[in-house]
Amino acid sequence: MLVLRHTAALALWRNNVDTRVALVPTMGYLHEGHLTLLREGRVRVASGSLVLSIFVNPTQFGPNEDLARYPRDEAGDLAKAQACGVDVAFCPASPDEVYPSRLTWVNVDELGDHLCGRSRPGHFRGVCTIVCKLLGLVRPDVSLFGNKDFQQLAIIRRMHADLFLPGEIVGMPIVRESDGLAMSSRNANLEPQARQDALAISRFLAEVRRRFAAGTRDATELVAGAADALAPGRVDYVELVDAALLQPVSRVEQPALCAVAVYFGSVRLIDNTVLTP
Ligand code: PAJ
Repeated sequence: MLVLRHTAALALWRNNVDTRVALVPTMGYLHEGHLTLLREGRVRVASGSLVLSIFVNPTQFGPNEDLARYPRDEAGDLAKAQACGVDVAFCPASPDEVYPSRLTWVNVDELGDHLCGRSRPGHFRGVCTIVCKLLGLVRPDVSLFGNKDFQQLAIIRRMHADLFLPGEIVGMPIVRESDGLAMSSRNANLEPQARQDALAISRFLAEVRRRFAAGTRDATELVAGAADALAPGRVDYVELVDAALLQPVSRVEQPALCAVAVYFGSVRLIDNTVLTP
């Protein structure tokens, strides 16, 4: 496995590759959710090249967010990557490596109006910009992303289509701990009690699915009691949006996304479920 820290080295490597290439962009502190993307990437390009990027992208964090305490473990990540058959790990030596000027930004309108886009202004601009740069550098035949970040994936798909970026975008199901908590690097920052309390999220989403299965279609009824159900977590948002356009719906007539963001202590967790009539 090659570990490359400079964009020039990555570009040089790419120019000498004529097999299929898969890309899995991450911010590291790899867990089973990330590893599922890597394994799927490995399968999709067979004997081709599997590229993992590990970069805690500063431009997608707001000034009062958790950039400084985002968990990091490069040595552990590289060992897991190797075990998944990664050929190239791109770990930029510094943000300047991928942001030579900080003058060019990529933004997708409207899809970021709600959910995380509303709570985290500028977040998806940072995500789109870094993913666009990675797609340009790696020119993958296939890139893999998780449905855990459903809005992120929808926005990346839009950007990818609108900018005629290379390859295919593949979305993968949410990977959960055995007790239901969606895997996230940020789970490492949960205090033991908060880790226990955070189970309220998957329980709440299961309740929403149960109501939906029982015939409830009214959005207010589907998410009624959310604040109590998620306590002592502090709700950032609980929303039901159209799964394609990510705009709020009052009734579920088309596939809809029920998405939540909740603070447990100072850790903000997100999760979602899709309701298909
Ligand atoms: P990160 O949070 O490290 O996630 C990297 C990829 O793993 C994303 O596509 C995310 O959706 C996926 N992922 C995370 N947890 C998952 C889970 N429990 N199940 C399935 N997939 C999961 O998302 C980012 O990094 C960044 O925003 C990035 C796209 C790398 C841009 O900086």
